[in-house]
Amino acid sequence: MAIISWKEFLTPYKQAVDELKVKFKGMRAQFEKEHTHTPIEFVTGRVKPIASILEKAALKGIPLDHLETEMQDIAGVRMMCQFVDDIKTVVELLRKRNDFRIIEEKDYITNKKPSGYRSYHVIIEYPVETIRGEKKILAEIQIRTLAMNFWATIEHSLNYKYKGQFPEEINLRLKRAAEAAFRLDEEMSEIREEIQEAQVFFTKNKEKADQKKQ
Ligand code: GTP
Ligand code: MG
Repeated sequence: MAIISWKEFLTPYKQAVDELKVKFKGMRAQFEKEHTHTPIEFVTGRVKPIASILEKAALKGIPLDHLETEMQDIAGVRMMCQFVDDIKTVVELLRKRNDFRIIEEKDYITNKKPSGYRSYHVIIEYPVETIRGEKKILAEIQIRTLAMNFWATIEHSLNYKYKGQFPEEINLRLKRAAEAAFRLDEEMSEIREEIQEAQVFFTKNKEKADQKKQ
């Protein structure tokens, strides 16, 4: 690690995140074009900041020259879905692709974490083309509903503030919020078909209106 710079080390990760974002946003665009419900609401991605890499490496006892193989989330992409069932659809779409290899899947939806965290994680090995040839890197794809994402985002900021040592009151609130997010997902699933019909109808009408304007 001493030999190469952080910038050099992180370049393929940055490229992987950028490429995966384009590819997954492209999946969404294809569903929209076909006037079918899109299982992908939006996509985000990031390269883990150097400070976070160092902090996690220290915490988990990962030597810096093992980062490539032992830290799976230096490249991270998130796919947000409207409905819990969409997550399965997205995972199946990922399994069919042949531009990367799935290394591991973690189902924190069937088995939520003690914190209340729910998401589906897919760890992939992604080949990046560099000027020195192909470089395979690990990336973590988190697939979750909007409600799961809302909860995780809030919990993450609170974690930042309290360093995981939540006061009892906050802890209780977070547990209840996780429960509420879970119920919201269940409620939305119940009226899923109704919502999807309305959305497809809306997209078609919007397209017609846009065509008239041109
Ligand atoms: P880290 O949790 O990343 O240290 O590694 P791990 O090997 O335990 O992987 P895990 O699958 O548990 O978590 C990977 C990622 O999922 C984390 O970096 C977070 O982005 C997310 N995550 C896991 N647990 C939680 C949680 O309790 N709250 C929130 N907000 N995010 C979580
Ligand atoms: Mg963890």
